[in-house]
Amino acid sequence: MWLYAAAVLVGLYLLWRWHRERQTVPRLSEKYVLITGCDSGFGNLLARQLDARGLRVLAACLTETGAARLRAATSPRLQTVLLDVTSSQSIAAAAAWVRECVGDRGGTGQSPPSSSPSSPPPLCQPVPAQPVPERGCGQGSSPGSPRPLSPGLWGLVNNAGTAIPTAPNEWLTKDDFVKVLDINLLGLIEVTLSVLPLVRQARGRVVNVASVMGRLASFGGGYCISKFGVEAFSDTLRREMRPFGVRVSIVEPGGFRTGMMDPATVVKGFRHIWDRLPAETQAAYGHHYLETYAKSTVLLHRLSSSRLSHVTSVIQHALLARFPRSRYAAGWDARLVFLPLSYCPAWLTDATISLFLPVPARRTPESP
Ligand SMILES: NC(=O)c1ccc[n+]([C@@H]2O[C@H](COP(=O)([O-])OP(=O)(O)OC[C@H]3O[C@@H](n4cnc5c(N)ncnc54)[C@H](OP(=O)(O)O)[C@@H]3O)[C@@H](O)[C@H]2O)c1
Repeated sequence: MWLYAAAVLVGLYLLWRWHRERQTVPRLSEKYVLITGCDSGFGNLLARQLDARGLRVLAACLTETGAARLRAATSPRLQTVLLDVTSSQSIAAAAAWVRECVGDRGGTGQSPPSSSPSSPPPLCQPVPAQPVPERGCGQGSSPGSPRPLSPGLWGLVNNAGTAIPTAPNEWLTKDDFVKVLDINLLGLIEVTLSVLPLVRQARGRVVNVASVMGRLASFGGGYCISKFGVEAFSDTLRREMRPFGVRVSIVEPGGFRTGMMDPATVVKGFRHIWDRLPAETQAAYGHHYLETYAKSTVLLHRLSSSRLSHVTSVIQHALLARFPRSRYAAGWDARLVFLPLSYCPAWLTDATISLFLPVPARRTPESP
């Protein structure tokens, strides 16, 4: 009897949750979403999918080639801008461009930043002096007439990232760590801060692409550290933004076959790091260590999923569902392996991860 009642309650709860999660926000065609790292991978696919759904996508690309390719594959609604998230100047210019696109007047009747002579020029696809509604920028006001209040920026998707250089910590320099942290963490923070007032204005969404490596650090270098940082930044931002009606979500993908996971690039970087190591360090680890580490990269790529839409669909949910989640896992490995393992005691996670790590040539027993 009790079992039956419990089963009914669980069923009702699941039904209620399913119904709640299916509800989406209205008026998608009026919503602006800025996505970083749209040249390839998740960012590129997401930009195309949101564009197809009628949203006003502001796609930030690292290269003009990537931007041109994306524009060719999408509707004229989608706008691109060049953005290097390691450059404060580039971020400021892109933020000014976004403000212009969404028609921001700072909520105070000020002119848009691009009308000020000191503001940096847009980097890509100059914003026309008169708004061109079919291109997605501006609010469609007639010259001379007061522009309506800006709807703000509905969504910011912090997606740009890199995993290179990756190697055992001892092989790396401080600069190697800085390179990754600059893109994955500090860049993400600076981009967020530069457009947060616009997101607050829209009572919109911030979606930060972290990783399961931000829950369970499995290899050396700046990558896992940066993703732990993204988790921490997002957790605090989520609590601070809730009173303003802004929702902050974290996306934690497992392994997916994107440019970032390309074994040729990763192994090339890995060998470059090996070549610059002092002879003593090379002898301590041994050539076998290098080869096994390189092989595990190839294996990881093979085991990774090619269905990038698993990630973009959860990002879409975080952006467009009426009740977005705080965290989304994406991929079978994230759900079944990495996240469960992250809750295990350290001795168990250490033992499990050690199974996949090469053994150094000069392995020594622990000192008593
Ligand atoms: N693939 C996975 O298995 C996986 C798993 C967990 C989390 N993630 C995360 O998912 C996000 C997207 O990665 P992805 O897998 O789609 O790899 P990706 O195809 O390499 O995409 C990363 C994007 O970021 C851009 N980018 C690199 N440096 C940048 C910079 N300084 N400023 C602006 N943009 C920059 C890249 O441009 P270029 O293409 O021109 O270099 C590329 O468009 C990253 O944050 C990554 O950490 C990926």
